[in-house]
Parts: sequence; C-alpha cells; structure tokens
Amino acid sequence: MKRVAVLGASGSIGRQAREVIDRNPDLELVAASSGSQPIDGIAPLTQVGGDPVDLLEEAEPDVVLNAVVGFAGVCATLWTLERGIDLALANKESLVAAGELALAAWKRGGGRLIPVDSEHSAVFQCIEGRDPQTVEAVVLTASGGPFRGRNRLELADVTPEDALAHPTWSMGPKITVDSATLANKGLEVIEAHFLFGLPYDRIEVVIQPTSVVHALLRLRDGSSLAHLGYPDMRVPISYALTYPEREPTDTPQLDFAAGLVLEFEPVDDEAFPMLGLARRAGEQGGSLPCVFNAANEIAVGAFLDGRLPFPGITEVVEQTLEAGAGAPVGDVDELVTVDAEARRLAEQALVHA
Ligand SMILES: NC(=O)c1ccc[n+]([C@@H]2O[C@H](COP(=O)([O-])OP(=O)(O)OC[C@H]3O[C@@H](n4cnc5c(N)ncnc54)[C@H](OP(=O)(O)O)[C@@H]3O)[C@@H](O)[C@H]2O)c1
Repeated sequence: MKRVAVLGASGSIGRQAREVIDRNPDLELVAASSGSQPIDGIAPLTQVGGDPVDLLEEAEPDVVLNAVVGFAGVCATLWTLERGIDLALANKESLVAAGELALAAWKRGGGRLIPVDSEHSAVFQCIEGRDPQTVEAVVLTASGGPFRGRNRLELADVTPEDALAHPTWSMGPKITVDSATLANKGLEVIEAHFLFGLPYDRIEVVIQPTSVVHALLRLRDGSSLAHLGYPDMRVPISYALTYPEREPTDTPQLDFAAGLVLEFEPVDDEAFPMLGLARRAGEQGGSLPCVFNAANEIAVGAFLDGRLPFPGITEVVEQTLEAGAGAPVGDVDELVTVDAEARRLAEQALVHA
C-alpha cells in the first residue's frame, strides 16, 4: 500500500489523481490540500490554503503528487525532494523557477522524481535504462493549442474564452492559456532540461495536433522512439503514482485500425514567440527562468481578467525579462525575492502593454 498526498486536490490534475487512487486498492489518499476550495472529508488529513508542509509532516506520505498551479508549488517540491520522498511532479513551474535548488535538494534527498506532465512522462519511459550517450535529443510534442495555424495579426483580438477552448486537453485555466501562447511548451523545455540533464540544443519541440504522440527520443543510430496514447492525464498520473509498477487504467487502447493519422509540423515562432523567450531564459539560466515564470503568471492572470490583450502576454514577459536580473539564486529566500520583484516589474509592464 502506497500512502499518497495530493497537493492541489481540487484542480484538474488533483481530481483525476483522486479517480486514479480510488480505482487502485494499492494506493491510499492520506492527505490532500487545495488553495481555496473546500475538500473536507476527501482524505484523513486535509488543508485549505497556507503552506502544506505541516500537513505533509503529519501525513508521512510515501509519494507526494504536487498538482498545485504556479510558483505556489515551489516549497512543497523542495520539501519533498529534500526528504527523499518520492515526488510525482505536475507542478512544472516549481522546476522552472527553482531548477538548480530542486536538483540540489533531489541529490541530497535521494528520492525519486517522476514527471506527471505527459510529455516528460513519455520521455522518462523512453529514456529509462538507456546509456545517455546514445540519446541524441528529446522531442517534446505540442498540440499547437486553439490558435494553431493563425498568424500574429489574427491573434490580436482573441478572447480568454477563445484561448480556453483547447482542442485536445481539458485542463486548468492557467495551463490552457499557456498552451495557447506555447509558453507551456517553453516551461516544458526548461523542465526537460532539469529532469533529464540535457542541454537546450538537444531538446526539440514539434507540433503534433492530435496529442497522440507525447514525446520522442532521437537515438544516435538514426532511430527514433515515440510514446503514444490517447490524451488522458490519468495515464501519466497513474504511472507516476504506481511507479515502478504499471497498473491498468480505464483509458482505452489506441485504435490503429480506425486510421490513426500522425501528422507533425514545425512551430511558428513568429506567431508564438513565448516558446523562444522561455528557451532563451533557460539557456541564460540563473534567475531568468524564475523571472520568465513570474512574469508569465502575472500576464496570464491579467489576460484572463480581461486587463491585457493576448499579444500583451508576450510584451509583459519580454519587458520583465529585459528589466529582471539574471544572477544565480543561492537559496529559497533569494528565489522568493526574485519572484516577487519579477511580479512587481510585470505589474508595471502591464500598464504599458
Ligand atoms: N491539467 C492538466 O492536464 C495538466 C497537464 C500537465 C501538467 N499540469 C500542471 O499541473 C499543475 C496543476 O494544473 P491544473 O490544470 O490541475 O490546475 P488547476 O485546475 O487550476 O488546479 C490548481 C490547483 O492548485 C491549487 N492552488 C492554486 N493556488 C494555490 C496556492 N496558492 N496554494 C495552494 N494551492 C493552490 C488549486 O486550489 P483551489 O482551486 O482550491 O484554489 C487547485 O487545487 C500545473 O502546474 C500545470 O502546469 C496540468
């Protein structure tokens, strides 16, 4: 029996995780947290709002599923890695903002870090046990979001409602907007860099509109391995919670006979500049991935509130990155300061966007 704590239990990933746990007699939900929604009675220990670390101390879980959205998930990620407790990580923002600190905590703690993001779960499964020298690159797939095929001009007036209509995945609002700008793929490139220890020039992105191919691995002999499945987050959640076992899920097998079309196309960097901005922030390193993340969170919030047009998201992030410092971050206190300062700069940039 594995004792599971789910942070962000009221969200899209949190609710699907609860389904996975309910279905599996070897998983026990011992603790759950949310930001603001009531979750009384879903687990023996629950907490709404505040820092979930006390909850985790009391619950003593075998695995923590961090499904909080945004920078708010950083402390739980670091706490779990530091203690060597297995971490099933959906909260990609914590690995983006606190990548170096998280790697150091992971190394000290010695536990397992199992990605829940479908692309990274796919890479994790393809790369496991493989000599790193044989891996030439990983290829993350992107659906392209609801605005795939549009040019920059056509994106000027899109509304939050348009952006929230994702073609293949049903997710929380922040990641859905990130998918529409392709900032999500940018966050994922940085996440892959830290998870798999690959330099940025060996992390590629390609559009695969149906989200059936989750990621590919290029090997040095010219072959590629792909991970396929219908888009259903319960699969990578189940894999992360039951790893190293692989338990059944309710997700149907792919129907190849029905004529599965696997199309790929390049990213339009001109229409979707957020991916390039994230990649550059990752390459420059230091505090810039944290600055990118903070500015993006502010800009997406403003877009969803109707205070910022869609192209303004890029402008706010670009201006904040230009004004933000990039020095390495020594500890969590410094990181929190960098995050707060970037949010302040992004709020200022909102006025001019
Ligand atoms: N949804 C997906 O399919 C998917 C796929 C891959 C990766 N992810 C990643 O998984 C994470 C969660 O995404 P989601 O789509 O599940 O988001 P979501 O539906 O918006 O849920 C977010 C969860 O975080 C909680 N939360 C928000 N602010 C918090 C705070 N300050 N302190 C503590 N808890 C807080 C929310 O609680 P309240 O609602 O109660 O405030 C909610 O339970 C994100 O990092 C996302 O990038 C999601």
